[in-house]
Order: sequence, then structure tokens, then C-alpha cells
Amino acid sequence: EDAARAAQFQARIDADERIEPNDWMPAAYRKTLTRQISQHAHSEIVGMLPEGNWITRAPSLRRKVALLAKVQDECGHGLYLYAAAETLGSSREELVDLMLAGKAKYSSIFNYPTLTWADIGTIGWLVDGAAIMNQIPLCRCSYGPYARAMIRVCKEESFHQRQGFEIMLTLCRGTDEQKAMAQDALNRWWWPVLMMFGPPDQVSQHSDTSTKWKIKRFSNDELRQKFVDATVPQAQFLGLTIPDPGMKQNVDGNWEYSAIDWEEFKQVLAGNGPCNRDRLAARRKAHEDGGWVREAAMAYAEKRRQRSAL
Ligand code: 3HC
Repeated sequence: EDAARAAQFQARIDADERIEPNDWMPAAYRKTLTRQISQHAHSEIVGMLPEGNWITRAPSLRRKVALLAKVQDECGHGLYLYAAAETLGSSREELVDLMLAGKAKYSSIFNYPTLTWADIGTIGWLVDGAAIMNQIPLCRCSYGPYARAMIRVCKEESFHQRQGFEIMLTLCRGTDEQKAMAQDALNRWWWPVLMMFGPPDQVSQHSDTSTKWKIKRFSNDELRQKFVDATVPQAQFLGLTIPDPGMKQNVDGNWEYSAIDWEEFKQVLAGNGPCNRDRLAARRKAHEDGGWVREAAMAYAEKRRQRSAL
């Protein structure tokens, strides 16, 4: 590969220039962005499943409408992100096929079950809260299409986080059973949400290159810490206890949490989480059932093309 061009590319990155689809870029830059953006898209689409599970069982029409809107938003986020990934040269079909074959990842967090309505509040409050922490810096990512997709995603994500927190507030101000349901959900989701930010910095295999190329603006551990520091006061406001008895605030005001069980994270990434098989089976079924829609759309597009060619 032409070393001079790679040096020129790095100079553009260092000058905080945006890289656009038709610009020259190192193959490894293209590869790692295709990897991250497509997996981000897979996360949005698979993320619709745990929430969708409660649309028919929402406790009121208002909650049902808000949840419908949120799930629909996640689908749209997937669309933007697949479109951003396609600007790097891969087709959406091949990216989706990799995920369906278990060869591409989606966020670990979506391999956990949504057992009660409080899980829906906790997902909005914590999972979307964590996603916002991670996605705000991505608005300044060096790759143009990804950064621009993130700006739109972040606007919608803040509504998701607020409606989740409001569900938790309602439960925590409700009956003892409702508050206990909220605490139970926090107990089950807290640690998997901390794992969402990725492995510890010292074992993160992509952080160095992603940081050099200004794809990753903060390290996994830095974002995890920002999330914990922002969330502890919210849990205190709700009157909920974070399931980490060893947690304490240090002199800088940061909340120091106990060791994360990275063995659980490894197991979930290896496909052995509580819901991995269900999630992939659901996506494979949806893909098969939707085959006729894709064929019809391609046939229609071909007819339109032939008509316009006349
Ligand atoms: N779940 C699944 N895989 C994960 C993971 C997680 N939570 N965290 C890390 N990994 C994987 C990485 O993808 C990588 O594997 P790969 O080489 O096969 O891709 C491996 O673990 C090593 O991790 P690294 O830290 O080296 O990888 P990254 O530098 O890519 O950092 C990341 C991981 C911080 C998740 C980064 O990829 C990222 O910022 N991705 C975009 C954000 C994203 O995907 N968010 C999903 C959140 S859910 C969501 O957005 C939906 C919301 O609306 C609810």
C-alpha cells in the first residue's frame, strides 16, 4: 500500500478532516468501519425484539404508543446505519447474511430476556442511556456518513431514554410491588449494561487503531465510567439500589464499581447468553418470511428501470 498516501490520510485525520466515501482510505480503515457500522446496525434491528415482546402487553395506550414509536425508531436507526455501511462498498444483503450466519456480532445486551414491564423502563433508561453515551462521541467520528447518521440517531435516542426513565419513576412512586419490580429489573440489567461498553481497555483489540483514526473518541472504560457517574444519582433519585454493594465514590467524585464478570460477557459473545438462539432464530425466520417482499421490490424496480429505458 502506498506509504505516502497512508501518511497523507493520517495527516487529514489529525487535522480533524471528514473522510467521505469517494476519498482514498487505507483498506484497514474501510474494514474496521464496515465491521463497526454493520454491527451497530445489527444491534438496532435485533434490539427491536426484546422491546417488541411488550408492545401487545403495555399497561396503557400511552405506553403502547411510546413503545411502538421507539421500536420503529430502532428500525430506522438500522436503516441509516446499513446505508452508511454500504457507502464503504459492502451490500446490505451480505452484511445481514453474516449476522444471520452468526459470523457478525450485535450488542451483547440484546441477549437478555424482558421478563416484566419494568424491563422496558430499564432498557429505555439504562440501555438507551448507555447507547447515548457511546453515540454522542460517534457524531464526531472521522467517517462522514457514520457521523451524520449518528446525529439523527442521538436526537431520537434521548426520547427513548426519557420515556424509559419516566416508566421507572412511575413504578418507583407506585405500589410496593411496582417498586420491587423496578428494583428486580435493575438487579438483572445493571451488569450486562456495563458490559455493553466493550471489554476493558487493556484487552480491547480495536481501540488503538480506532482511536488513531478518530473513530473512537473515548475508550471503553472512559465511557463506562461516564455512564456510571451519570446513572448513580438517577438511581438514588428513583430510590433504587444499584446491585453493587462494593461501589463507593472516590475523592474525584467518580463511582468505583466492583469487578465485572467478563466470563459472562465472553459466554454471551460466544452465543451462550440467555436469548442468543431465540434472537438469531427470530431474525432468520423474519428474513425468510420477508423473502417475497424483497423479490417483489426487486421485480418492481427492474420493471421501472426497463420502462424508463424505453
Ligand atoms: N456486544 C457485542 N460485541 C462487543 C461488545 C458488545 N457489547 N463490545 C465489544 N464487542 C466486540 C467488538 O465488536 C470486537 O469484536 P469484533 O472484532 O468481532 O467486532 C471485540 O468485542 C473487541 O472489542 P473492541 O473494544 O476491541 O471493539 P470496538 O473498538 O469495536 O469497541 C464498541 C466496541 C464500543 C461496541 C464499538 O464497536 C462501538 O462503539 N460500536 C458502535 C456502537 C454500538 O454498536 N452500539 C450498540 C449499542 S445498542 C444500540 O445502539 C441500540 C440502542 O438504540 C438501544
